[in-house]
Amino acid sequence: MITIENFLKKNSADQIEKNILMNLTGSQKKISSTFFYDEKGSKLFEKITSLPEYYLTRTEIPLIKQAADYLKESFRNVTIIEFGSGDPTKISLLLDSIPDEYRETISYVPFDVSDAAIQESCNLLLQDFPGLNIHGIIADFTTQLDVIPKKTNKIICFLGSTIGNFSKEQSKEFLSDIYEIMHPGDRLLLGFDMVKNKEIIEKAYNDSRKVTEQFNKNILNVVNTLVGTDFNPENFKHIAFYNEELSRIEMHLKAIKQMEISSSKYSSHIHINKDELIHTENSHKFTIEQIKKLVASADLEIERIFADEKNWFNLVLLTKS
Ligand code: AVJ
Repeated sequence: MITIENFLKKNSADQIEKNILMNLTGSQKKISSTFFYDEKGSKLFEKITSLPEYYLTRTEIPLIKQAADYLKESFRNVTIIEFGSGDPTKISLLLDSIPDEYRETISYVPFDVSDAAIQESCNLLLQDFPGLNIHGIIADFTTQLDVIPKKTNKIICFLGSTIGNFSKEQSKEFLSDIYEIMHPGDRLLLGFDMVKNKEIIEKAYNDSRKVTEQFNKNILNVVNTLVGTDFNPENFKHIAFYNEELSRIEMHLKAIKQMEISSSKYSSHIHINKDELIHTENSHKFTIEQIKKLVASADLEIERIFADEKNWFNLVLLTKS
């Protein structure tokens, strides 16, 4: 059975639009990476996950299988919550390992801001797992964790190293917020892309098929739709580099000429200089020391770490005691 609840506030759309424009009129222009994922952006991201250079997904998947095998005995009556769900591939790996006799006792709660992502993952999962209880939540997981059903025996999943999009402060805050909604014994399964050779990381964000370039530029189409601007994505160059000091990939869009952008919905104009950068994403890479510090700051305990041979990716299972 599928139920879907939408907790997005009616007046928040207006707030979001004004915020986008504010971030584009300052001196350090930026667009939040949460705006990558419209329908086209989500498709492009899925394409990225199977690129030869994009090692993240390919490395994480066997680790999810290991975690699934490790967790399967505790799946009875469990509520599996997944943040940022759209593509059901990863969660299917967890669900695959559920013993048959537990199936009816499990609920799956996909949690995402995108209505379309929730609808899609619910429908696809029900095809593969008939009888599964699915309760989709449409909400913003950075501000609305309180809408999560207050059930005991939860496994909360935040995969793909999406936590890397947060700043260090935001990720601490996010984990502390999650700690608050966990009961003793609940678990959190967190994916981290690890610090590694700079060339390998940079290639993953500068693929030879230029899918990441399309993905980056598409954020301007999303902004155009949301706030009525007339950005032409082809007037920008895709830039992605590894900032070693802050151990993160930074993605930017670099203006190839001077531009004056106007909006059909708002009176503001956006002046852009030639070579000016619009910052679109940070994707942090982690060391085990950083991970330990981060989870300890939220009082969470490490139960197990699943890692590949090269230690390129860590899938960390956390508990609250
Ligand atoms: C979905 C945030 C994990 O940071 O690697 C892929 C997004 N950006 N290529 C990442 C992304 C450019 C991805 N995350």
